[in-house]
Amino acid sequence: MEIMGRGARQILRESPLYFHLGVKFAGYRLFGRKSPLYGSADIINSCNLHCVHCYWWLNRKENEELGVEEWKKIIDEKFKKNHVFVVTVVGGEPLMRPEIVELFAKEFPKRACVVTNGTWPIPRLRDIYFYWISIDGSEEVHNGIRGEGAWAKTRENVLEYVRGSDKAWKDIWITMTINSRNYKTVRTVIEDWREYSNKIGFQFHTPFIKDDPLWLPFGKERDAVIDEILDMRSGEYSDYIVNPVHQLNTMRRSWGGKGTTPVDCPTWAMLSVDHLGREKHPCCIGSADEKMLKPRCEECGLGCYSVLTGYGMKG
Ligand SMILES: C[S@@+](CC[C@H](N)C(=O)[O-])C[C@H]1O[C@@H](n2cnc3c(N)ncnc32)[C@H](O)[C@@H]1O
Ligand code: SF4
Ligand code: SF4
Repeated sequence: MEIMGRGARQILRESPLYFHLGVKFAGYRLFGRKSPLYGSADIINSCNLHCVHCYWWLNRKENEELGVEEWKKIIDEKFKKNHVFVVTVVGGEPLMRPEIVELFAKEFPKRACVVTNGTWPIPRLRDIYFYWISIDGSEEVHNGIRGEGAWAKTRENVLEYVRGSDKAWKDIWITMTINSRNYKTVRTVIEDWREYSNKIGFQFHTPFIKDDPLWLPFGKERDAVIDEILDMRSGEYSDYIVNPVHQLNTMRRSWGGKGTTPVDCPTWAMLSVDHLGREKHPCCIGSADEKMLKPRCEECGLGCYSVLTGYGMKG
């Protein structure tokens, strides 16, 4: 038996953590107490790609990065103190700082996942939960978004990783951010990557400007992609697609907020820090600096927050 990639023995070993999670859920339901369930950390302030859809470049400023000791302090003072269950390691490109990835895997055994473009060698870490590999379409479409040769490099690194051991494929999860350029290639992505990965998760492009041409508008075409994913989910890919039905349906329409203000979005559920360890607002794609560009909640398609609304969690 496995639940979200966690085996029965592991679940048993983690029972004290589930206690904290249970207290958090009960505190929210009974008293409206809001305590973060997850964490996310931008461990690096650089990236080797410049993808056309990327929010991270929009607010990036040239400045320092933290060392291993400083990250350890943030892990203790922010994430552990708040008993967050899972931490997502992001960036920039986190695999350009393998020593920090290793630290997170060690501090959160089987509870740290890494979101990566996969163009760097993927470290084999015993305690990693899994790697989210970002794939944004068929090879041609992915390269149009991420740069020439990006798909082949990622493919090579994933294959190298999964061929290293019998169970390595379980550590590879695919994440696709659906936008107006790639929405017709959802099935191709599944067919291309199913053999080498454990799960796939979909989310939708979240714009920072009004009328962003990359945003896939609510309506006919968006509904058709969601219907296609739901069909695959209830058929041949039932054990592969991780998005719950309610989440996919939520993403048919505006669910998070008005303009750039979150309303129903449970922003409190994730404690997100930037590359200097400062808390980001309103969410993991926001910024620690009030004056920076803000995401448009009204057109939000982020998976990590929309998944919680179906469990009755609100802002
Ligand atoms: C900012 S990247 C950082 C990690 C790594 N460099 C990568 O590309 O996976 C994290 C994830 O955010 C997604 N992303 C970037 N811009 C986005 C946007 N405007 N809306 C939704 N997701 C976005 C990327 O596709 C990627 O899966
Ligand atoms: S690789 Fe990741 S962080 Fe870098 S530009 Fe692309 S989406 Fe953004
Ligand atoms: S996840 Fe961010 S952009 Fe989306 S609704 Fe919530 S606060 Fe707004």
